[in-house]
Amino acid sequence: MALLAAANWDPGVFPEPGRLDVHRGDRHHVGFGYGVHQCLGQNLARLELEIAFSTLFARIPTLRVAVPVDELPYTYEGLLFGLHELPVTW
Ligand code: HEM
Repeated sequence: MALLAAANWDPGVFPEPGRLDVHRGDRHHVGFGYGVHQCLGQNLARLELEIAFSTLFARIPTLRVAVPVDELPYTYEGLLFGLHELPVTW
């Protein structure tokens, strides 16, 4: 089974893969899978995220992470990888 998180972390494809850069403009990630079973809901998911984040930052412009970024607790359970929690302040 291919590990999508590892593919998305490939420094040969994504320079400095550990650096969050929302302006990369890269469309070659496999976060939504690849091939015939590629995510059917990816366009909806992208739209939802765009609306959610733009609304959130418009309503709470001072929102920021409350702890140093390298102290954020990550979780990895099977196929799912992400933050265990994200303490914020404003
Ligand atoms: C950020 C949000 C999402 C992520 C990261 C995501 C990720 C994925 C991934 C990696 C796959 C491929 C699984 C595989 O290779 O077997 C997949 C499949 C699928 N996703 Fe998503 N998904 C998201 C949101 C959604 C939404 C909102 C919907 C529907 C409203 C959806 C519906 C589906 C369906 C139906 C499949 C199966 C496609 C198939 O097997 O042919 N997903 N998704």
